[in-house]
Amino acid sequence: MEFPCTNVLVFSLLLSLSSLSAFSYSVFSPVDNYLVDCGSAVDTTVDNRRFVADSSTSGALFSHSSGISLRNENPFASASPIYDTARVFTRPSKYEFEIREKGTHMVRLHFQTLNSSRFDSFHSQFHVLVNDHVVLTNFSGDNILNPRVNEYLIWVSCEKLVVRFIPIRNSKFAFVNAIEVISAPKDLVPVTAQYVNSEKNENFDGLAEQALEVVYRVNVAGPKVTPYNDTLWRTWIPDNEYLESSFGSKSLYFGGRIKYRKGGASREVGPDNVYNTARVIQSTSDSIPEIKITWAFPVIGGYKYLVRMHFCDIASISLGLLYFNVYVNGNLAYKDLDLSAASNYMLASPFYADFVVDGDGLDVLTVSVGPSNMSMAHAIVGILNGVEIMKMNNSMGSLDGMVCAGSISRSWPRGNVGVLVPLVAVVCLLVGISLGMQRRMFSNKDSLSWSKLPVDVSETNVKH
Ligand SMILES: *[C@@H]1O[C@H](CO)[C@@H](O)[C@H](O)[C@H]1NC(C)=O
Ligand SMILES: *[C@@H]1O[C@H](CO)[C@@H](O)[C@H](O)[C@H]1NC(C)=O
Ligand SMILES: *[C@@H]1O[C@H](CO)[C@@H](O)[C@H](O)[C@H]1NC(C)=O
Ligand SMILES: *[C@@H]1O[C@H](CO)[C@@H](O)[C@H](O)[C@H]1NC(C)=O
Ligand SMILES: *[C@@H]1O[C@H](CO)[C@@H](O)[C@H](O)[C@H]1NC(C)=O
Repeated sequence: MEFPCTNVLVFSLLLSLSSLSAFSYSVFSPVDNYLVDCGSAVDTTVDNRRFVADSSTSGALFSHSSGISLRNENPFASASPIYDTARVFTRPSKYEFEIREKGTHMVRLHFQTLNSSRFDSFHSQFHVLVNDHVVLTNFSGDNILNPRVNEYLIWVSCEKLVVRFIPIRNSKFAFVNAIEVISAPKDLVPVTAQYVNSEKNENFDGLAEQALEVVYRVNVAGPKVTPYNDTLWRTWIPDNEYLESSFGSKSLYFGGRIKYRKGGASREVGPDNVYNTARVIQSTSDSIPEIKITWAFPVIGGYKYLVRMHFCDIASISLGLLYFNVYVNGNLAYKDLDLSAASNYMLASPFYADFVVDGDGLDVLTVSVGPSNMSMAHAIVGILNGVEIMKMNNSMGSLDGMVCAGSISRSWPRGNVGVLVPLVAVVCLLVGISLGMQRRMFSNKDSLSWSKLPVDVSETNVKH
């Protein structure tokens, strides 16, 4: 008699649990989702995510040049196991991923110097291209003590995404520990953002087609958010380092539910952990404090930057009380922001605003919030929950220097022999022979070992 009862109980409990989780969470499942553990012979699972070994890729929807698999001889105990192996390339090489859904893709490249007698990190220096974009030039793998993750948002309009590794042509090599290629949600990069400078605010169109590099992703007044706790497996770092002065402001934590809504920021744009903490300015008397909170981010000049600021009113006691101004590089970017109206009259509902700024001659990018003429006494007069700063490709299509992908590819003429017309091939051959003779004459051990290295070279040849 008791058993059916318990069954019903268990069943209804399961039902309520599943409806509860469906209500609070629908997990994003990307169409393209490649996680590759480079140089590894076995798959590696990190935070419930399986990084596929690239040593045997038969049947996989990606392929790569052979290169050399390396294993860390003294693994760093604290680091994730994906950093224990790397694939090393001594000549231009690539990973090719089949793309099933066109649009923005997140590309993450993981690097950490391996401690291996077969790998002298001093000799690693290389360029990296993603499709037509230069993402890294003259990158040296020397002394990367903590794992380094470079993240890019790349618009893909063809069936392939190709990551190319091009060693500097001077006995150097390239390496990579892991690669992620993941379709981004449609709303992650908008078509238009507001271009802000000292003279005017206007629309910046075609944003989605630009290549972006995430340079800062900050959880204001909150802890570090790891890929395990982020809807798109991102990392958000705390803001302490970038806060210019905390004077007159305070940090806030909200224990309630963040109310994501259609048309607003989705959980993929920013997770709960980012929206449930904030730094605020509060008016505690009949007057409005004349202060701003400012965060300063060192940047490299000569690029435009996309600044995304995340807001969520977790501080006001009721709607219609929070008005403030938003500044980027000291210029008014959003006047009298009414967070209640922006979040469709719902408290604890997220909103974000995108601004494009010109980084010409800039070495620090600042964002600030502070009271506006509409701010009210005894209320919150400024708030920020999170901020992301992304570098935009320059006119050469590059995120790292004034050089285009084509000229980097051409730095290794022999890699292109396959597509050259026979006449040019003959010329190349002649040039090659004369170069070879020159090399012989100046008998340089390094450059000889370079040209001799076959693709699947045995480990001993890699040492210089
Ligand atoms: C690399 O391994 C060697 C040999 O075990 C060790 O002496 C050295 O400290 C290690 N270096 C690093 C950076 O871990
Ligand atoms: C790489 O560095 C070398 C020497 O520092 C410089 O001459 C070259 O222009 C750089 N290449 C690129 C693509 O930035
Ligand atoms: C995930 O977030 C929870 C609560 O915010 C925290 O307790 C936990 O340590 C986080 N886990 C990781 C792996 O970051
Ligand atoms: C308030 O309005 C005045 C006049 O329009 C303007 O000069 C001032 O900058 C405004 N103050 C703020 C904090 O927006
Ligand atoms: C980024 O690169 C594309 C070409 O890939 C180019 O059309 C675009 O103008 C570049 N963006 C900027 C801001 O220069």
